[in-house]
Amino acid sequence: MQTNSIPPQNEPIPLFSAAEIQQRITELGAEISRDYAQCELHLVGIMKGAFIFMADLARALTIPCVINFLYASSYGSEQTSSGHVRIEHDLDIHGKHVLLIEDIVDTGLTVNRIVSELQKQQPASVKACVLLDKAEARKFPADIHYTGFRVPKYFVVGYGIDFNEHYRELPYVARLED
Ligand code: IMP
Ligand code: MG
Repeated sequence: MQTNSIPPQNEPIPLFSAAEIQQRITELGAEISRDYAQCELHLVGIMKGAFIFMADLARALTIPCVINFLYASSYGSEQTSSGHVRIEHDLDIHGKHVLLIEDIVDTGLTVNRIVSELQKQQPASVKACVLLDKAEARKFPADIHYTGFRVPKYFVVGYGIDFNEHYRELPYVARLED
């Protein structure tokens, strides 16, 4: 079996507990359900980081939705962005109301590029919902419509979010020491 190397960091420092995250997701689910009550909602989760958030948010909705995923990667194995975003999908979203589900927005590059890519198919609307927003790190315009929590420019892990493929399984969000 292939294994990744042991994470080199000290114990991650908790930022948001599982209960706090669920509470916020309940609120987001209610808000999104109200906003999309009159149309068919197409959730598009950005893999891999959004997989847990997507699963919990979808179950917090009180309206039906269609679930899809796309794959985007911009980070290599380091804690800084490579400046390139690789996007893979087989979506058919012409005329659809799309809500992108993302784990964390940092510079905004990933969401910016994905929205541009999806707009080519002329969806009825594209909005974005992110669990964590490092707003002060923004370098590219990224129109975020729903935000779970704002965070300082920490490197965070857990609840789907990784460092070098580690820590995704943590049920809470934590930060790594600088
Ligand atoms: P951006 O393109 O600079 O906005 O970065 C967004 C992407 O980088 C996210 O989809 C994450 O996968 C990753 N990322 C940004 N900040 C962090 C972090 O603190 N921890 C882990 N991944 C991050
Ligand atoms: Mg991501």
